[in-house]
Amino acid sequence: MDIKGRSVVVGVCGGIAAYKVVEVVSRLKKMGAEVDVIMTANAQKFVAPLTFRSLSHRPVVTDMFSDPEYWDIKHVSLAQKADLFIVAPATANIIGKLAAGIADDMLSTTLVATKAPVLIVPAMNHDMYSNAVVQRNIETLKELGYIFMEPDTGRMAEGSSGKGRLPEPSAIVEKAVSILKPARDLEGIRMIVTAGPTRENIDPVRYISNYSSGKMGYAVAQAAHERGADVLLISGPVELEGPDGVRLIRTSTAEEMEEAVLGNFENCDMVIMAAAVADYRPAEVSGTKIKKNDDEMVLRLRKNPDILKKLGTIKGNRTLVGFSAETDNLAENAAKKLESKNLDMIVANDVTMEGAGFGTDTNIVRMIKRDGTVVVLPLMSKLSVAHRILDEVRGMAAGSGQGSGNGQ
Ligand code: CTP
Repeated sequence: MDIKGRSVVVGVCGGIAAYKVVEVVSRLKKMGAEVDVIMTANAQKFVAPLTFRSLSHRPVVTDMFSDPEYWDIKHVSLAQKADLFIVAPATANIIGKLAAGIADDMLSTTLVATKAPVLIVPAMNHDMYSNAVVQRNIETLKELGYIFMEPDTGRMAEGSSGKGRLPEPSAIVEKAVSILKPARDLEGIRMIVTAGPTRENIDPVRYISNYSSGKMGYAVAQAAHERGADVLLISGPVELEGPDGVRLIRTSTAEEMEEAVLGNFENCDMVIMAAAVADYRPAEVSGTKIKKNDDEMVLRLRKNPDILKKLGTIKGNRTLVGFSAETDNLAENAAKKLESKNLDMIVANDVTMEGAGFGTDTNIVRMIKRDGTVVVLPLMSKLSVAHRILDEVRGMAAGSGQGSGNGQ
């Protein structure tokens, strides 16, 4: 299972087993996950934040009120960003706080704010673990959808033996990977995804295009395929390889892309248009290389077909999702496009923000739905953004089974 680019937040509490979580973070990182670590004040008495920082290559969050160095401001951004939250070692204290809804430090606050599945890996003295209140709290949390791993039985740090040891790091990682595995909630959905720029020829050696890398659309295609959709990716010229299991049609101009999309539209349930289609093309394409003559040269342009707008007029009960790359008035412009193109949802990003837009592996988007609902996401990998988009649209497609939810 590929967990590359998935976001895992690891909450480390104060217990001797904290040192074993170093290995968990290291393994997840080696598998390509993006790992953020939050440590409680007591955890820092067992392991230095620097250890986790060196392994995760990211700042370790230790204090709710310290200046964030280079992750975005609010504690909620980690809560929103997480595809999976792991609490290990989970002490009786954090389990009790979570069961009671107490949010009094960075870890408990972020846990209360997250919608990601939460994997809790308790480790504590076996008398504490078997305590009736602790067990009641665990049951309460299980009923609410929190996922627990059973502690191992064996010799404890203080010498006695019993149930309460942290499971082996490999077992924790295995469990994490199984939770991250995408639900097959798009089975039976036939989906067209477009990606990349279009290239509008001027003459045999020149063209007009834009900076789109295709990464966002390719991530959507990959994520949809992982979730069981039958995906046709229609791509403009990009450097990327098509994701495994996805049918790929390569196109160059907007007109070619339009032809490919319209030719496959009838047999699809959903279209996600992530392509950055050039709005204009040269009015005439010269058959021979244009020579430089005068100091100035005028290139006359003609409007390209608006593919998505056309789909909006013939959509039937299909689901249409557009993208909106903006440099200003993001929400307003995106909402207008949602309306004018008859879309079900639009994914808007401000391409001027660092970490968002063309070429990067990350994106910062907000999703605006037809009913006016707005979902704002923090800086995330494009693959995680792709999954969030699919989470929003999975129930919209005609004939879709409502997929399984995420933990709670
Ligand atoms: N789109 C399209 N055909 C076009 C232009 C855009 O299908 N000729 C699609 C894009 O794939 C995207 C959405 O429409 O999903 C929004 O594209 P964008 O270029 O941001 O919006 P425009 O409608 O072209 O408006 P403007 O360029 O004025 O911002």
